Amino acid sequence: MRLVVVGAGYVGLVTGTGLSDLGHEVLVIDREPSKVEQLAAGNIPIYEPGLGDLVRRNKRNGRLTFATEIPQEWAAADAFFIAVGTPASPDGAADTSAVFDAASAIAKIALRSAIVVVKSTVPVGTCDAVQAHIDGGTRQGVELEVVSNPEFLKEGDAVNDFFRPERIVVGARSEGARRALRALYAPLQLSGERLVITDPRSSELIKYAANTMLAMRVSFMNELSRLCHATGADIHAVRLGVGSDSRIGKKFLYSGPGYGGSCFPKDVQALLHLGKVHGIPMRLAEATHQANEEQGDFLAHLVERMLTGTSGGSLAGKTVAFWGLAFKPETDDVRDAPSVRLARHLAMRGARVVGHDPEAGPNFLRALSDVTAARPGSIVTVDKDYDAVEGADALVLLTEWRSYRAPNFAEVKKRLATPQAGQSPVVFDARNIWRPSEVLAAGLRYQGIGVPSTGSTVATPPASSRALS
Ligand SMILES: NC(=O)c1ccc[n+]([C@@H]2O[C@H](COP(=O)([O-])OP(=O)(O)OC[C@H]3O[C@@H](n4cnc5c(N)ncnc54)[C@H](O)[C@@H]3O)[C@@H](O)[C@H]2O)c1
Repeated sequence: MRLVVVGAGYVGLVTGTGLSDLGHEVLVIDREPSKVEQLAAGNIPIYEPGLGDLVRRNKRNGRLTFATEIPQEWAAADAFFIAVGTPASPDGAADTSAVFDAASAIAKIALRSAIVVVKSTVPVGTCDAVQAHIDGGTRQGVELEVVSNPEFLKEGDAVNDFFRPERIVVGARSEGARRALRALYAPLQLSGERLVITDPRSSELIKYAANTMLAMRVSFMNELSRLCHATGADIHAVRLGVGSDSRIGKKFLYSGPGYGGSCFPKDVQALLHLGKVHGIPMRLAEATHQANEEQGDFLAHLVERMLTGTSGGSLAGKTVAFWGLAFKPETDDVRDAPSVRLARHLAMRGARVVGHDPEAGPNFLRALSDVTAARPGSIVTVDKDYDAVEGADALVLLTEWRSYRAPNFAEVKKRLATPQAGQSPVVFDARNIWRPSEVLAAGLRYQGIGVPSTGSTVATPPASSRALS
């Protein structure tokens, strides 16, 4: 088949490349000329494991090409995929303007009937609105059917997710469109069909429901972690005890610095907004969002108190090392990442942040360019992990990349600044991945999230740190 994918981001590039690897001829469009130039040269503008080799292989084969707009030769494509961004508007609603722009471009160029597959995450009713939008703009005799096919890939494992999907959701009105998508995805389901076929509105809601449900688990565990700080319970034990119930399951039960990334924050907000529009308050989504905000505040206060003590001294002159800047391992994405929020908080209060990340350093600095413009030198990145720790007053682990999992704590201790008499330097494990005993053995203090602190006393903020704001 000849397929056009609009949007060369995490979703569009993986989808287009994956489809070309299945033997289709694919054109990927992006309105950013710099991205297209890089891709045409065989370079990948994002970090996604395994994607680069796949892009180059299919490009060499002539099955995968890139452009900034759909050329006339592709006017008779069999299907057009829309994989553009749908960021949050200030009121929380998903901004679908790029989806409609892409739909207009497709309607204008299409020379024969085809399907338009919306992979972007869009509010319920958007596919119907896009259908109405397209119907008014196509050539006579050309029928484009809009189909919802939300994407469930996980950044960092996206290539694997494309070729081994847990489920493929298709929301289509006609049998013809359902048949077309079933045929397109058949090679990914040789070991058993994983299609969930429904109408476009249900399909659109499935995506928001899935992401909000996952975010809800994270927020609940984060709230419990704060309760652990207040009561002396240990979140590790709580997680094990709760997750051993097969009705609950062990996944997505980790407390940490709060969820971030390009999907959970905006999708929870978009579901909340959708509920408001329809007069059905999404109270759990609201609480999920609120708990996430509070977890960010909690983390900031915990780190601040660790550095200044209970007396609430100043952060001026303090240096904090960050290990991990991406919102999760194996990606360079820092959209809504906890690292960005914490760095902003600390830098605005006079501290200096020195960050290290295997991939996300440049995006981190870009996301905080307003802070570094106001306070030059307040946020920097380094290429080597231990260089971030050199002379710092504390180390905060924010993303559990493999390379941070078993650090040399003696080296960390050697590199950290020596605090005032009687105190040991402190490491803050916001992902709860280190063994406190190993940290302690190196002469450091340990602070995790929802686990008892070890070493000399580290001040613990009240369970609701908002009281301090
Ligand atoms: N990133 C994820 O992990 C993920 C997972 C599942 C679903 N989604 C959803 O998929 C969609 C895309 O997400 P993403 O992370 O790939 O976004 P992204 O921001 O990485 O990429 C979007 C790309 O679309 C391009 N673009 C925007 N408007 C365009 C237009 N009119 N014509 C051509 N190109 C255009 C942009 O330049 C950008 O390169 C969003 O709705 C998102 O919620 C994302």
